[in-house]
Amino acid sequence: MEFVFLLLVIFCLILLLWVLSEMAFHLFVPIERWPAAPFVPTAGRHYKTIIDALELSPGQTLIDLGCGHAGLLVAAAKRGISGLGYERSWGPFLLAKINVFVRRSPVKIIKGDLFAADLASADAVFCYLLPSVLADLEQKFSQELPSGSQVVTFAWPLPSREPTQVIEATRIGEKIYLYRY
Ligand SMILES: C[S@@+](CC[C@H](N)C(=O)[O-])C[C@H]1O[C@@H](n2cnc3c(N)ncnc32)[C@H](O)[C@@H]1O
Repeated sequence: MEFVFLLLVIFCLILLLWVLSEMAFHLFVPIERWPAAPFVPTAGRHYKTIIDALELSPGQTLIDLGCGHAGLLVAAAKRGISGLGYERSWGPFLLAKINVFVRRSPVKIIKGDLFAADLASADAVFCYLLPSVLADLEQKFSQELPSGSQVVTFAWPLPSREPTQVIEATRIGEKIYLYRY
C-alpha cells in the first residue's frame, strides 16, 4: 500500500515539474519561438464571463479545442452544459483526466489533434490558441460548424471574421471574442 502511495507521489511530482517547466518556458522564451499553442490555461476568473456570454442551455455542447486541464469545461458542466475537450499533449491531457475524475465531472476528454475534432455536435467552440492556429481553424469552422453555433476565442481574434461581441477581459487589454456561425 505504501509502495503504491509512493509511486503516486513520484508520478504527481513528475507531472508538477513538467507543468512548471512548460509554464517557465513560456514565460521566459519569446513568443516567436513558441510551439503552435503552449499550455497556458485561461485564468479561472474568466470562466463565468465566457460561459455567461455563450448563453448555452443545459444539455448543449461546448467543445474546447486544446482543452489544457479542462477547467472551463468542468465549470460549464456544473451548469449542465455538456463538455468535450481535445488535447494533444500528454501532460495537460493527464491533468484534464485527473481534474474530471476528482471533480466527478461528466466532461469527456479526447487525446488527439484539434484539427481532427468532429465539430458536428458543437453548439459552441472555445479556443485559446495562437493566431497562426486560429487562421488555420477558420476554414474548418466554416466547413464543419452547424449553423447557429458559436465560437469564442480568448486573447486573439479569428483573423478574417467579424466578431458579434468583444468583451474586455483583463487590464492588459486581453479580450474575449464571440462569433456566430
Ligand atoms: C493556451 S492552452 C489553453 C488551454 C485551455 N483551453 C484553457 O483555456 O485553459 C492551449 C492548449 O492547446 C493544446 N494544443 C496545442 N495544439 C494542439 C493541437 N494541435 N491539438 C490539440 N491540442 C493542442 C496545448 O497542449 C495546450 O494545452
